[in-house]
Parts: sequence; structure tokens; C-alpha cells
Amino acid sequence: KDRGKLRIHESLDELSTDLADYIAELSEASVKERGVFSIALSGGSLIGLMGKLCEAPYNRTVDWAKWYIFWADERVVAKNHTDSNYKLAKDGLLSKVPIIPSHVHSINDAVSAEEAASEYEFVIRQLVKTRMVSVSEVSDCPKFDLILLGMGPDGHVASLFPNHAVLNEKSEWVTFLTDSPKPPPERITFTLPAINSASNVAVVVAGEAKSEAVHLAIDDVEPDCPKLPARMVQPTTGKLVWFLDKGAASKLDGD
Ligand code: 6PG
Repeated sequence: KDRGKLRIHESLDELSTDLADYIAELSEASVKERGVFSIALSGGSLIGLMGKLCEAPYNRTVDWAKWYIFWADERVVAKNHTDSNYKLAKDGLLSKVPIIPSHVHSINDAVSAEEAASEYEFVIRQLVKTRMVSVSEVSDCPKFDLILLGMGPDGHVASLFPNHAVLNEKSEWVTFLTDSPKPPPERITFTLPAINSASNVAVVVAGEAKSEAVHLAIDDVEPDCPKLPARMVQPTTGKLVWFLDKGAASKLDGD
């Protein structure tokens, strides 16, 4: 199986520059092709690593008004809570570039996790109808131009944790959990079918503490560990890229 392209960097600074280049290129290609760019963010260290997008030249060259922004996972807390992935992205990125506020699709923070997930799927469904989000040719799933994921040391991506029942979700695009092993417990998350329908998926991982999970997610390992969420990220027709620093890449098999 194709487990993606590797972009391994000596330093976080180099990784950030490459990540900004990658996102800017995808944005340009997508705006050229379909007039818009649909991008889903995650939480965690990813947002800090995207920081270069707010600086020259990207702050001027990226067509921010064409961005439609979503979250691949979100913690079900108030939008102004320190745990909110929306707040993290707003403070670190979105407030610094000319994004159109109505294009920013954060979750409803006034309802239960279950309701927030089904409302979020409904919102995406409406945007698929108007083709602000493309649709997969092989299923009825949304086909985001780019989904950005981080990964935990346990191999989780978005809020898809090892051995959790949400890994088996086949029909929903967005689901919820109330027992996340990483706090806070209440979350909504894109499902594997939604993630694997994207045109591009990037997993951004830094630090030695995640090197074992990187190895298990990417290398041919015996016995096969098909249950590791990060290893289950395998876009059906889209492209997968791993952005790794030296530490995160340190346990990958040499060739
Ligand atoms: C979340 C995230 C989660 C995150 C990873 C990696 O809301 O918790 O979306 O999937 O991306 O846990 O986080 P770090 O990069 O901070 O380790």
C-alpha cells in the first residue's frame, strides 16, 4: 500500500517553510481549477507550524478570500475556550490574514457533541451542493482540497484514537465522541471515509516522542498493525504527504 510521500526536515523552521509552500501551492492550484480552496485544519502543534503562512510572501500571494475553512476535529467547548481548536487557529492564523469570516466553518458550541457533529455534517453537505467543497467520484463523500492532520504519540489523527469504535464508522462524514483519551473528552471528528476522500491529506509530525508511531504508521511492520489510526489514513484517489522533522523520522526503516 502507498503510505505517502515523505518530506523530512532538519529543523522545525525548515519544516514550517516547506509546509507553507505546500499549502500555498495547493491553494493556488485549487483556486485556478475550481475558484475556491477547501481546507480542513486540526488542533495541536500544527497551527504553530503553519505560522509562516501569515508572513511574507504568503500573506500577500495566497488568495485568502477563496479559502473555505473547516476543522477535521474539534473539541466541544466554547469557541473562546483555551481548548478550542477554532480559537487556536483564529489567534495563530486566521485573524492575521484576510479570510472572509463567513467562509470559516466552526462548530456550534452551544449544543451537545452529538448535535454538533450532525450539524457540522449538514453544513458540509450544503457546501458540497454548491461545490464550495468538491465531491468524491467514487463515493458521495466530500472531497476537501486539503485536510491537515497532526498525530499523537499513540498514532491518533484528528480525534480518531486507537481501538475506538469511531474508527469503524462507514457512512457518516462527521461523528462525535464523549470519551476521548486525550482531554477534553467531548469532540467531533471527521471519519476515515471523509479523510480518505480528500484530494490531499498532510500529516504533520514533529518530535522524537512520536518516532515509534511514525514508524508503525509508515513502514512495513510485522505483524501488520492495520488498527493504528495514522496507518488507516490512505486517500482513495488523493495524495498523502508526511511532513516530519528529524526526531519524528528517526525510527523509520532505512532503505
Ligand atoms: C486535537 C487534534 C489532534 C492533534 C494531535 C497532535 O484536537 O487534539 O486535532 O488530533 O492534532 O493530538 O497534537 P500535537 O501536534 O499538539 O501533539
